[in-house]
Amino acid sequence: MLEINLSGLKLKSPIILASGVLGVSFSSMKRVINAGAGAVTTKSIGPKSRKGYKNPSIIEIYPGTFMNSVGLGNPGIDEFILEIKEIKENNIPLIVSVFGDTKDVYLEVATKAEKAGANAIEINISCPHAEVASIGIDKDLTYKVVKYLKEHLSVPLFVKLNPNVTFLGDIALAAEKGGADGVVAINTLTALKIDVNTKRPILSHGSGGLSGKAIHPIAIKKVYDLYKILNIPIIGCGGIDSWEDVIEFFLAGASAVQIGTALYREIEIIKEINKGIIQYLKEHQYKSINDIKGLAHKFKIQEVPDFD
Ligand SMILES: Cc1cc2nc3c(=O)[nH]c(=O)nc-3n(C[C@H](O)[C@H](O)[C@H](O)COP(=O)(O)O)c2cc1C
Repeated sequence: MLEINLSGLKLKSPIILASGVLGVSFSSMKRVINAGAGAVTTKSIGPKSRKGYKNPSIIEIYPGTFMNSVGLGNPGIDEFILEIKEIKENNIPLIVSVFGDTKDVYLEVATKAEKAGANAIEINISCPHAEVASIGIDKDLTYKVVKYLKEHLSVPLFVKLNPNVTFLGDIALAAEKGGADGVVAINTLTALKIDVNTKRPILSHGSGGLSGKAIHPIAIKKVYDLYKILNIPIIGCGGIDSWEDVIEFFLAGASAVQIGTALYREIEIIKEINKGIIQYLKEHQYKSINDIKGLAHKFKIQEVPDFD
């Protein structure tokens, strides 16, 4: 009931580990798979090792809602290849998230990841607190980077969207036109928290990316709007904490989902979510999670209020 085929990737569950959360080592990714995830996405990997911002770089601002500015700290692709190889030896479906500052750097990292065994590449053009944000806010740049990568890669290519733009649909359409095999919606929302006593931003970098519970309805709206205009699959991401959150993403039009922040509380939550989805599908007499995709669009919303 939970199996999906995501642009050729056959997954046992539609739940995928989101990038940046537990995705830096084979052992943590294995735990996520053992808890029932269909695939894992790695932390975004660049060409060279990078420290990221100093602490505090992550804070919980409301229960289940976090702000982070970890700043793409990562070991660099050459070091990370060892991790990729171990993951592949254990047959774990693997999406490697990559970033760079030019299209050639993206290609260099993605090619190394593909050769090491990645089943798909996700490009992070969307991190709101690093220089790569500039690609994800520009539809022409997005098109160019995606098209260039598609010309050289054989595995599916997913584009992680930056929600901090006015017209997300234009960026998503540019990714589709460039040949992307899917989009991930959404990355974190840019945010700022100030300590009233010290009168300074709490995170060392100042601003950060908002994730977790508070962003779920925003992510649902983005997926709902994108479903109306895209032909490629949408991977819903943002604030998943329960099976209902996943069902909502599918009803809005998602073909798969990613989960991140909620795993700080408990990795085993994935097991509960899978169970909840199966029970929902049975109760509503659906054979597969695919059968509920986009169903919310059948409901005719009121476009313009009536006059009295
Ligand atoms: C601590 C942390 C680090 C993250 N690092 C990355 C990253 O390296 N690359 C990326 O594309 N997204 C990164 N994200 C964003 C998540 O993949 C996801 O898009 C976002 O957190 C929303 O999902 P969630 O509410 O389930 O966490 C990070 C999120 C968090 C909380």
